[in-house]
Amino acid sequence: MTDSSEVYAAICRFIGFDADDAARLRDLAPLFAAHGPALTDRFYAKLAADPEQAALIAGRVDALKQTHLRWLSELFAGDYGERYFAERWRIGLAHVRVGVRPWWVEAVTSFLRGEGLALLEANLDDPERRAAAARSLLKILDLDLMIINLAYADDRVDRLCRFTGMSRKLIERCIAQGR
Ligand code: HEM
Repeated sequence: MTDSSEVYAAICRFIGFDADDAARLRDLAPLFAAHGPALTDRFYAKLAADPEQAALIAGRVDALKQTHLRWLSELFAGDYGERYFAERWRIGLAHVRVGVRPWWVEAVTSFLRGEGLALLEANLDDPERRAAAARSLLKILDLDLMIINLAYADDRVDRLCRFTGMSRKLIERCIAQGR
């Protein structure tokens, strides 16, 4: 996990995710708080429309909607340091544990990008402010997705270690050999 949190910091630097992005996202908090419940409803309707996803959320959609709303409020809380990373990592592992296949997380992130941009278009009149807000929104959604993907990848190596009894270093070396 230490390595992955360093990767997170490096990615933030690389994509130029900075204090201005954090401030812009904080500014968007009231908009997304107002529209969050409707967005969350559409998110779970989307999952429920696919048989594989529907089976995973069956019987607990209302509870999941609450956790999704919390996730959404943290997305606009303006604090994206180590604690944010650790919490998003934990959420990633929750999906690994219940067997959500990783490409579905990619797919619903695409859905969230579209929904988020549509909200900005409908509610921010100033084109410059809207464009800057859109860039910050896309960055944080991509960062969240990257953290979840890192957690999935890390879990795969862990499983291989447990299954084979090999050390993590050896497994990493085997993977590197294939290049
Ligand atoms: C970017 C996409 C997603 C976000 C932001 C998201 C958000 C969350 C959050 C915040 C939690 C609560 C985790 C916790 O606090 O322990 C959660 C749990 C869960 N999510 Fe997602 N989710 C996403 C994609 C998906 C997809 C594609 C599925 C497919 C069905 C799914 C199904 C679930 C399930 C079943 C749980 C409960 C996990 C458990 O029992 O521990 N999620 N999700």
